[in-house]
Amino acid sequence: MSASVTPEQLKALEDSLLNTTGNVPLHIRFRALFTLKALKSEEAIKIISRCFQDPSALLKHELAYCLGQMKKTSALPVLETVLKDVNEDPMVRHEAAEAMGAISSADSIPTLKQFLSDPERAVRETCEIAIDRIEWEQSEEGKRALDTQKVERHIPLYTSIDPAPPTSKLLFGAPKPEDVSQESIDILKSQLLDKERPLFERYRAMFTLRNIGSPAAVDALASGFSDDSALFKHEIAFVFGQLLSPHSVPALLNVLRDVNESDMVRHEAAEALGGIGTPEVFPHITEWMNREDAPQVVRESCQVAIDMWEHENSGAFQYANGLEATPAQVAVA
Ligand SMILES: [Fe+2]
Ligand SMILES: [Fe+2]
Repeated sequence: MSASVTPEQLKALEDSLLNTTGNVPLHIRFRALFTLKALKSEEAIKIISRCFQDPSALLKHELAYCLGQMKKTSALPVLETVLKDVNEDPMVRHEAAEAMGAISSADSIPTLKQFLSDPERAVRETCEIAIDRIEWEQSEEGKRALDTQKVERHIPLYTSIDPAPPTSKLLFGAPKPEDVSQESIDILKSQLLDKERPLFERYRAMFTLRNIGSPAAVDALASGFSDDSALFKHEIAFVFGQLLSPHSVPALLNVLRDVNESDMVRHEAAEALGGIGTPEVFPHITEWMNREDAPQVVRESCQVAIDMWEHENSGAFQYANGLEATPAQVAVA
C-alpha cells in the first residue's frame, strides 16, 4: 500500500469515513479507516479524530484502536477526551485507554490512574493494564526487548501493538509447535486463568499462547471464555481473530450465540469468525446480522464480519485502486 496519497484521495477517504453523503455502508467506512491508519500521517489522525461524533459505538471503538496502533503522541489529546467522557459507550472508552497504553507515553499515566476505580469494569481493567504496559516498556526488560528487536531486526509474528508482550522467554517469534510441550502449555494456561495474578501478567500468558498457536494452545485460550471479565474474554476473541485457526471456530460460535454474553465479547467473536472465513461460519454471521433482537454492536460486527468472510472467500488479491485496505488486511479490534 502506498504511504502517500493525493489531496483528492485523502478527501475521498475522509468523505467515506465520515459518511458525508449519508449512505456509505459501515464496512466501507471501516476500509477507509484502515487505509487512513496505514498512512500514519498527521492528516489521517485529524480525520479519524473528527469521526468521534458518530453514533456507532462499533465504529468509534475502532477509531480509538487505530489511533493507538498508529503510535503517535499527537493522538493522545483526543483519546483522553474520549476516556474522560463518562457518557461515551464503555467499549469506546476502553479502546481509548488501551490506545493510550499502545502509544505508551509516561505522560498518560496520571490520566489513566484517574479511572482505576471507574464504575465500568472494562474501563478500569483496561486502565490497569495500560499503566502496566507503559511501565513495562520503560522497565529494564522492556527496554532490552525493544533494543534487541531493533538490533536483531526481528520481524514480529503479528504486527499489532498488543496490550501486553508475551512472557520473557518467548518475546520474539514463535517456537515450532512440536518444540512446545503440553506441560509448557498447561503452565501458561494456569497463568492465564489465575485470577490472583494482575491482568497484565495473565495477558502475557495469553499472547504467548497466541504466538505458539497450536491446537493445544487454542484450547488453552478457549478455556479463558469461562472467566467473568468481559474485557479478558473479548481479548481472547481478538487473539483468535489474529490466529485465524479453524480450531477456534466452535468456541467462537458459542460466544456469538450466547445471548447472556456481553456485547463486547460477542462483537469480537463475530469479527474473528469473519476473518477465519470457513464455510460453517457464514450462516451464523448472516443470522446475527439480521436478528432484530440482537444488540446493535453485534449486528454491525456481523456486517463487518460478512465483508471479511466474503473477501476471504473471493480470491481477490487487491482492490482496484490499490489504495483501499482490504478487510483481510485488517485485524479489527
Ligand atoms: Fe478492545
Ligand atoms: Fe473490538
